[in-house]
Amino acid sequence: MMKVIVRENDIQGGAAAFEIFEKGIKNGAKVLGLATGSTPVTLYQNWVKSDLNCDDLTSINLDEYVGLKPDDPQSYHYFMKEHLFNKKPFKHSYVPDGVEAAKDPQKAADDYNKIIKDNPIDIQLLGIGRNGHIAFNEPGSSFDTVTREVKLTENTIKANSRFFNNIDDVPTSAICMGIANIMSAKKIVLMAFGEKKAHAIKEMIEGPITEEVPASILQKHPDVTVIVDEAAAKEL
Ligand code: GLP
Repeated sequence: MMKVIVRENDIQGGAAAFEIFEKGIKNGAKVLGLATGSTPVTLYQNWVKSDLNCDDLTSINLDEYVGLKPDDPQSYHYFMKEHLFNKKPFKHSYVPDGVEAAKDPQKAADDYNKIIKDNPIDIQLLGIGRNGHIAFNEPGSSFDTVTREVKLTENTIKANSRFFNNIDDVPTSAICMGIANIMSAKKIVLMAFGEKKAHAIKEMIEGPITEEVPASILQKHPDVTVIVDEAAAKEL
């Protein structure tokens, strides 16, 4: 059973998520799987305000756009620095290498899978796409997948174009942890805010387990906490 925490809004949801991470870290979690997007921003705001020391922690991010350099403001490397690492440096922070992935996607993916194997994830943070995708594992992704290059769907490109000047600037593929990597984490925290996520949240929690809704596989994980605001909980 997934545990569902409903909070009034994203500010309170971010605080609830931070409590889980803080408690986990105090209880010995050392490797954190981190995520980007607008959803985790309130969690990271709580994190940077806190006195939590991260010197001893390792982070492994879910994904990166193929072709974007780490200092590109739209890259997920840049996002993580801006929102967390500049203020809370970790011992090691891994984000897939978008430049290497553009040259040799298989090698970049294999290298990343090795990092995940060598550093088993204690707590994995996730957002969710409107179509139920997690990281960039779009509907139809096999539940067995590990890190690889994935093509982004038209809808995801459109949804994420709000961060770019022009829709044509949005990369068309990403290098992304697979569903099997995500499921190997000991504990998973998934956050979702806003009405646009309500249907995906319902399908994930109450719908059938199907590759058409990648997040539905989380029903099989033994330790998942879902943090939603009232709008995202509307269809439950
Ligand atoms: C992208 C990311 C996902 C994220 C999703 C939702 O596709 N790769 O990791 O969960 O967008 O983004 P947002 O949190 O901005 O709604």
